[in-house]
Amino acid sequence: MKRLQSLKAVLMGSALAMSLALPAAAQDKEFPWMDTSLSAAERADLVLAEMTAQEKMTLLFGHFGSPAPWLNARADVPGMNWTPPEEARNQSAGFVYGIERLGIPNQWLADAGLGVASQRGPNPFLRTALPSGVATAASWDRELSYKGGQMIGNEARLSGFNVLLAGAVNTNREPRAGRNFEYAGEDPLLAGVMVGEAIKGIQSNDIISTVKHFAHNFQETKRNSVNAKMADKAGRETELLAFELAIEIGDPGSVMCAYNRVNGDYSCESPYLLTEVLKEDWGYKGYVMSDWGATHSTVPAANAGLDQQSGFPFDRAPYFGQALVEAVENDHVSQARFDDMAHRVLWAMFDNGVFDNEIAAEPDEADIDFDAHADITRQAAEEGMVLLKNENGILPLTDEVKSILVVGGMADKGVISGGGASQVYSRSGDPANGMNYGMNSFPGPAVFYASSPVEQLKERLGAEITYMDGKDLKAAAKAAKEADVVLVFGTQWTGESVDFDLALDYDGDKLVQRMAKANKNTVVVLQTGAQVMMPWKDDVAGIVEAWYPGSEGGEAIARVLTGEVNPSGHLPMTFPKTLKQLPRPVIDSEPVGDAKWAQADYDIEGSAVGYRWFDKKGLEPLYPFGYGLSYTSFDYSNLTTDTADGVLSVSFTVTNTGEKPGADVPQIYVGPKAGGWDAPKRLAGWDKVTLAPGATQDVTVTVDDRILSTFDSGDKTWNRAAGDYTVYLSHSAMDVDEETSVTLDAKTLNVANQVVTSSAE
Ligand code: BGC
Repeated sequence: MKRLQSLKAVLMGSALAMSLALPAAAQDKEFPWMDTSLSAAERADLVLAEMTAQEKMTLLFGHFGSPAPWLNARADVPGMNWTPPEEARNQSAGFVYGIERLGIPNQWLADAGLGVASQRGPNPFLRTALPSGVATAASWDRELSYKGGQMIGNEARLSGFNVLLAGAVNTNREPRAGRNFEYAGEDPLLAGVMVGEAIKGIQSNDIISTVKHFAHNFQETKRNSVNAKMADKAGRETELLAFELAIEIGDPGSVMCAYNRVNGDYSCESPYLLTEVLKEDWGYKGYVMSDWGATHSTVPAANAGLDQQSGFPFDRAPYFGQALVEAVENDHVSQARFDDMAHRVLWAMFDNGVFDNEIAAEPDEADIDFDAHADITRQAAEEGMVLLKNENGILPLTDEVKSILVVGGMADKGVISGGGASQVYSRSGDPANGMNYGMNSFPGPAVFYASSPVEQLKERLGAEITYMDGKDLKAAAKAAKEADVVLVFGTQWTGESVDFDLALDYDGDKLVQRMAKANKNTVVVLQTGAQVMMPWKDDVAGIVEAWYPGSEGGEAIARVLTGEVNPSGHLPMTFPKTLKQLPRPVIDSEPVGDAKWAQADYDIEGSAVGYRWFDKKGLEPLYPFGYGLSYTSFDYSNLTTDTADGVLSVSFTVTNTGEKPGADVPQIYVGPKAGGWDAPKRLAGWDKVTLAPGATQDVTVTVDDRILSTFDSGDKTWNRAAGDYTVYLSHSAMDVDEETSVTLDAKTLNVANQVVTSSAE
């Protein structure tokens, strides 16, 4: 590392000194690549032609942006004593040197998808935290996802970052995975669209976003070594499709490859993933950066398609430092490939305005409109909350209720957030600081946001509201008996690098059971990463899934519970009843056969992920994908289909038949009558419709042909089979309201999603 920095110093100090002395504006005029009438590719060509090998390498080598005391003790890198580059932002994820003589800006990297995150340390950025990724996905609201992305991109820019490590789209194949909260659920269409919109919003600030973690990064257990075994066809029809859609919609400047292996190769050394699928088949023009500690070599990684090593010294060596230059000199990595690596980074920087709209020299947080952003995160939390159960109209709470006992989840203090690299610290402070909630080492302890549901309820209701932490079960049960309504706050804290049971923290399931026994008017408010099991489901009157609701979460919860907001979220993943229902009842953690690493076999379910698996196996879930209630009711009618130009579109009418305004998420699923898919049906489209009582709206949904096709790995085509299909208009994957039939012609699309043959033509 020292060597790298000293090389840079030598370069900067000698021949380049003159150009460094020039003011930046004067230089700009002279740089032909600053001509904005040229394309990003032409501009990258021009600057690349001027670059030395050392300068190219500089763009390809990322530094960790934060001190890493834990690395000092690392046995495999003796004597490592890491200090981040001075120019890196405080407690940030990364930094890549620019090249001043050529006017190439520095790259300042921050996590990520839920807001501007900070690494652990004494002085984190205090920023707006969106609700978790699954919460946003549960809104099924494309515009809202864009708005959230736009907001965090704005805060990132005004905090001095021009690369945001956002766009987490790994699909929920493993409900116990500790990072599911960062992602967007189990369905490739929903996840790809929602994350694509968020990326587009982030990049609207003239900064780069990633999409990550490419690919098949489904569990945290043994995450640095586990092998994901997945056939090409199954991958293309599920997780890879989610990435493909997110890239088409969001056009992220960078793709972050993952920690895990895929079919034997490390993701960041996989020619299949990085070159064949991403760059050749999809024509991706941006650059691939590694996850922090996911680069394992120089030559195999560069030749497989990795363009930038990230976060050194997370890796064991500076593989893309001097070793890369030498590998090029010795022809182990071709000059063309080396140029391509640098060209991709430059292209993404030009394409996203990183050159043309540079980060302010001294970013000022006073420029952030925190009030407006509070409204955005609150709205996102509200729209993502899912009403799972509401018996006898127990919700919304009204002033008829005279006494409410609130128990558990630190609901008197705030709301919980997920742990790990995506951790955002809020301006309201952390009321759990020092309590060691969850875990006392990384990714814990859990951080809470000081947005108290209890306080917010008190502001809205006349009832007497009492809070108990629930540790004394007997006392809580006694108080529960005397209250009109009991609200139990159940948390399932999760975080990066660990997998979790589908149970509530601190014996929360037992607490709910006890409260439900004491008072039949018990409502459970869940704050969970993703799925939990609910052994008490039948004993309680109401259940609201609030996920990790972000920095205004307490207010959002209170507004939903009191009916100020009508819940409209729908589950973006299937909640199983038991672990036995899952394709892998036990998480794979032991080496198999001759392999030195654990292997998770995703060929068990293939494309039949989530609800598709439950459908195929005839299993009844606890709650199905797409499920969500409202304080009003919706009726569907006039279901019709159209196949003009060979494209399937589905039209129908939604009516609010209840007495309250509300928003609905009508869902279209499709399946071939003759079978031939891995599972009977797939989500093919949806809309989010807001309606006043009695109001009606016509909706048309156009169906992407890849959803109607199976992927042929032999000739790399998407094939839509001729025949009859059932089209379902549904409230969830398991609650079909109406169905109809449509006959589709055969159609073949190539791997770049272009129609090759269509019998309609
Ligand atoms: C995570 C990434 C994150 C990176 C930088 C890694 O541990 O897997 O998602 O962007 O750290 O903080």
